[in-house]
Amino acid sequence: MTSPLRLGVAGLGTVGCGLVRLLRQNAEQLADSTNRPIELAAVSARSRKDRGVDLGNAVWFDDAVKMAVDPGIDVFVELIGGDAGVAKEAVEAALRAGKHVVTANKALLARHGTDLAKLSEKTNVSLNFEAAVAGGIPVIKTLRESLCGNQIRRVYGILNGTCNFILTRMQQDKRSFAEALKEAQALGYAEADPTFDVGGFDTAHKLAILTSLAFGTRVAVDQMHIEGIESITQEDIESADDLDYRIKLLGVALLTESGIEQRVHPAMVPKDSAIAEVSGVTNAVAIDGDFVGNLLLAGAGAGSHATASSVASDIIDIARGGRAPAFGVPAGKLKPYKRAKLGQHQGAYYVRLNVFDRPGALAKIAGRMGEREVSLESIVQRRPPDAQVGIAAKPKPGSDTPVVMITHETTEQAIRGALEAIYKDGTVSEKPQMIRIEEL
Ligand code: HSE
Repeated sequence: MTSPLRLGVAGLGTVGCGLVRLLRQNAEQLADSTNRPIELAAVSARSRKDRGVDLGNAVWFDDAVKMAVDPGIDVFVELIGGDAGVAKEAVEAALRAGKHVVTANKALLARHGTDLAKLSEKTNVSLNFEAAVAGGIPVIKTLRESLCGNQIRRVYGILNGTCNFILTRMQQDKRSFAEALKEAQALGYAEADPTFDVGGFDTAHKLAILTSLAFGTRVAVDQMHIEGIESITQEDIESADDLDYRIKLLGVALLTESGIEQRVHPAMVPKDSAIAEVSGVTNAVAIDGDFVGNLLLAGAGAGSHATASSVASDIIDIARGGRAPAFGVPAGKLKPYKRAKLGQHQGAYYVRLNVFDRPGALAKIAGRMGEREVSLESIVQRRPPDAQVGIAAKPKPGSDTPVVMITHETTEQAIRGALEAIYKDGTVSEKPQMIRIEEL
């Protein structure tokens, strides 16, 4: 066996402790498969409290940046998080000092991935980040290595477990968004400030990384359309069910003739599709390649052990001496990201309107759709919960009634224009709900 590979692990939270457990539990297997012992040489964390893991003889560093450049380590494992501050400083310092870097930091890669990849190439070291997207699902290496002979047309997925948990609870247990969110918080899934999860920003960071790997483009998290799940109501969930759909928060990167669409938003997916079956905190990533066809990877998107499994695989690659460009092609060859215009997005749409119950309202709405050549596939007027039933039933003055429509394929520009006109006409009591139907 050759000399040990010496790790400096910064951050001893959920993932850091999971990694230490894995290194201890599977030490022999790791050494056999790499022909090299993997040694926890140094650690750094905010406090020296006992975390119930065996740190062995690891040297303690209060300063992660100092550890990152210490001659006693070969690999800097960054599990601190955040796109600025210590995490960024330490990763840059490690790369400059010629240390390999393994990180689970999606925010850092989404913001600075291209520059960090360039830096790693200057000093000829690895920048590995399997754990940064979808926790334990090996999607980074799938794109970077296993599928690198393919032209990718689309990569999409359920990349945030908290949102998928909330939508699943809303669907299976008829919870409101607020109730399901509270439950997610009580179970420790959602952050104390859940905006990052439910607003779609966590998904956006992960999608930006996948886009770059899939299409060989520079990471462009700022060039993304982001919508969260906050506006999804129980009515939407039930209407989707009636129409044989499920609602999922998807991150989608799609190659089109005018550029790449990067979008994060709730989407309708057919109830009988594999991705519709992905429930609770589970993540899933689907990839459409020209030679491989359609792939779906599903599994734990977060958690101590699943994420540690991905971090360990990056370390093993380094121990074996393998090195691939961080985003699949050398950083200098990453193409500028060309954003497709979302207005030109083509697809079918789900629309829910709360229509004032008065003669001619629906005709006016249909007229607005027709003016923009939006053709309707189906339209269902649901009875309001407190409506009178029977021949003598009359609408209460000022009452509204939910109307759900599915359009044929149209453009985003056309449907948005029609819905704006409908809202301005005053035929509806609140802003229309619009959810894209993802063609699978
Ligand atoms: N907050 C993330 C999620 C986990 O809910 O999936 C880590 O990315």
